[in-house]
Amino acid sequence: MKTDRYTPTSRGWGLYCLVLLLLLAICPAPSQAAEPAEIVCIQCHSALPDKLGEPVKLWKGSIHAENGIACNGCHGGDPKDAANAMSPQRGFLGAPKEKDIPAFCGRCHVGVLKDYLASAHGMALGKGGPTCVTCHSNHLVVKASLDLINEKSCTRCHSFERAQTIKSAMQQTENLIIATDTKIGSFKSQGVDTDRLEKGLFALRNRFHSLFHEVNVAKVRDESTQIMGELKKLDGELQGIEEARGKRKIAGAVAVAAALLAAMLLYLLKKTYD
Ligand code: HEC
Ligand code: HEC
Ligand code: HEC
Ligand code: HEC
Ligand code: HEC
Repeated sequence: MKTDRYTPTSRGWGLYCLVLLLLLAICPAPSQAAEPAEIVCIQCHSALPDKLGEPVKLWKGSIHAENGIACNGCHGGDPKDAANAMSPQRGFLGAPKEKDIPAFCGRCHVGVLKDYLASAHGMALGKGGPTCVTCHSNHLVVKASLDLINEKSCTRCHSFERAQTIKSAMQQTENLIIATDTKIGSFKSQGVDTDRLEKGLFALRNRFHSLFHEVNVAKVRDESTQIMGELKKLDGELQGIEEARGKRKIAGAVAVAAALLAAMLLYLLKKTYD
């Protein structure tokens, strides 16, 4: 007869589960305090109506939520102490006024802030120009893309003409970046060393994605043309690799065919002697 305490009889399992449940109840999960859903800002605000509760719902679908930037990441305050959460002594900033929004977001997006402030939009801040929130929204900020440049959003203050020029110059470059990325990815999965190519593309992509906020039509056109040139060089290298591999494949196929032919001849030869 076995004496093992964990023999899977129904009584044994029951006891085992009970112990497990007790352990779970006693030990707090170590990461609990770090979970965004556990911070007091969300606990309290999700129970508040309208303008005070709405941010929680919107924020949940945002790229900030996805990256662990919660209410206090933007608004400051103490996310662990409900009584003093919104005390200025704990760094609470409140909701920014319109003219303070760029600096508010720019604490983290430093490069974007710099470009924005130097742009026609930044210079019109407080005088009818757009802030970060005009284009990206405040709580439901999603991954940025060229879709943000659209007729509905960009004709609120002026015509779409210049916006359209920026968009089409950027769209072509964006498409080539995506195509190059896909090609490099497929070579990589076939075991080709793509390290240098990946680094090249990464640098070009960063340069490209820092183009927009200056909203300088001439510069976007110029830079896009240059970046396209660099991308085409990368593409040329990729084509070189493809051709070399193609040749190697043909050579391989010829070798296999020759071996097969030889085997068949040997077989026939053997048959005629049998
Ligand atoms: C116990 C409930 C409670 C907690 C905890 C709480 N808030 Fe609030 N919050 C409120 C209420 C109520 C208001 C509206 C009245 C006011 O402004 O004091 C408010 C207002 C705000 C506003 C708008 C202020 C303005 O100037 O319009 C922001 C932003 C805000 N809270 C962010 C936070 C952040 C960030 C945290 C966590 C660090 C937090 N709250 C924690 C209840 C709470
Ligand atoms: C990415 C930064 C960011 C994050 C994260 C963020 N907020 Fe805000 N919040 C803002 C900005 C910017 C404003 C001012 C909006 C405006 O004027 O359009 C604002 C405004 C508010 C207001 C005032 C709303 C009003 O209409 O008066 C409240 C309340 C608020 N936020 C609560 C929260 C809560 C709760 C969270 C967490 C679930 C949160 N915010 C997360 C940027 C943020
Ligand atoms: C006139 C509209 C507009 C305004 C104002 C604006 N943005 Fe953008 N933002 C865009 C567009 C369009 C893109 C996408 C550009 C692209 O795909 O290259 C973008 C991209 C971004 C990105 C991603 C860039 C990257 O490097 O991947 C960040 C972050 C960002 N914006 C933050 C901000 C902040 C912070 C502000 C305020 C200081 C701001 N934006 C103001 C339209 C705007
Ligand atoms: C506490 C730091 C912080 C603040 C403040 C902040 N962000 Fe972000 N933001 C991040 C992080 C982290 C990411 C995700 C990583 C990334 O893409 O850079 C992000 C991502 C973004 C993206 C998507 C970038 C992309 O690659 O497509 C946009 C757009 C953006 N933020 C806009 C804003 C706006 C608008 C505000 C102000 C309302 C703001 N952020 C305030 C930290 C911050
Ligand atoms: C809230 C108002 C507002 C919105 C929304 C807006 N703009 Fe503007 N924009 C301005 C103002 C103000 C100027 C400066 C005066 C001018 O040149 O018309 C400007 C200027 C420009 C310029 C000319 C820059 C220069 O140096 O000549 C471009 C390009 C531009 N905006 C693109 C866009 C794009 C793209 C969008 C949409 C993603 C957009 N704008 C959305 C207000 C806005």
